[in-house]
Amino acid sequence: MQVLGIETSCDDTGAAVYDTDAGLKSHCLASQVELHALYGGVVPELAARDHVKLLMPLVEKALREAEVPGRGIDGVAYTAGPGLSGALLVGAALGRSLAWAWDVPALGVHHMEGHLLAPMLEENPPAFPFVALLVSGGHTLLVDVKDIGRYQLLGGTLDDAVGEAFDKTAKLLGLGYPGGPAIAKAAHDGNPERWRFPRPMTDRPGLDFSFSGLKTFARNTVSSVQLDEETIADVACAFQDAAVDTLVIKCRRALEQAGRRRLVVAGGVGANLLLRERLREMTADCGKEVFYPRLEFCTDNGAMIAYAGCRRLAAGERQSLDFSVRPRWSLADLAPFSRAVA
Ligand code: KG4
Ligand code: ZN
Repeated sequence: MQVLGIETSCDDTGAAVYDTDAGLKSHCLASQVELHALYGGVVPELAARDHVKLLMPLVEKALREAEVPGRGIDGVAYTAGPGLSGALLVGAALGRSLAWAWDVPALGVHHMEGHLLAPMLEENPPAFPFVALLVSGGHTLLVDVKDIGRYQLLGGTLDDAVGEAFDKTAKLLGLGYPGGPAIAKAAHDGNPERWRFPRPMTDRPGLDFSFSGLKTFARNTVSSVQLDEETIADVACAFQDAAVDTLVIKCRRALEQAGRRRLVVAGGVGANLLLRERLREMTADCGKEVFYPRLEFCTDNGAMIAYAGCRRLAAGERQSLDFSVRPRWSLADLAPFSRAVA
């Protein structure tokens, strides 16, 4: 079965073709970073308009690179939520229209399920069950994954998502958007001894997170000093250290609590090299294993949507022709599906 996957939930436009036999056949991405960088963050209306412009040519490119004519596609998967409603509607409308024209099924995919399954696109995919750390601009979740569609939420953030905290702290330091990669770059030259930022909610039991206090701590630190290049690097370093440490402590706790030996990390913040290194050390230290998607599949992309949609369509999942997008949609509300996949 060959599935076209479409991603338009935020500021990346993605299209990809996944084949149950041959694996990923193509994947194309168009980033809107430059457009939104002018405003210091994503402007929803501009994102939707840019998806309108970029998506169709990107789909054509993905089909061309996969060497599949439109008529060779057996199903279309698009991100139905969570995300920005205008942006989601662009992908949903095109996905539904193409499926109707080609007379094949269309399926709305949960964006975070896409992230969660992204490591399955790699050569050495994790076996079920595992604990997943989903860290993006809008989510910070620990999930016990028994199988595709069988998700139990173990913990989440009570306020800001960790990616959001990276983005806001970067803005505070004048580092621009998106903040995660900018903080990581600046932190490289920072002095880790100058400040120690708090590791929120690690001194009490539980698997929930809170990152707004960390962001405020960074703001208070910045307002007490002269903001020169050295200070920017030191604050970035202290912030990244604290955020990464907090995630590592909670991941260790989640693996122990759920009794799992595999950890999967996904979502944009999963591209953070310090996080990847520290999680590798932590899992090795307690005899467990960690799995990541390649860096380009940590951030938003069409390949993960094509994969997730393909698994569900191949298992026989179908949706009616009328559709809606779900800007807010909990992963816990997803239904499991039969394992009878092709
Ligand atoms: O998954 P994603 O591409 O989009 C959402 O679904 O939100 O995640 C974007 C988030 C942004 O907050 C961005 O700053 C963060 O991921 N991010 C990073 C890194 N690369 C992207 N955070 C820390 N370190 C990175 N290297
Ligand atoms: Zn995402």
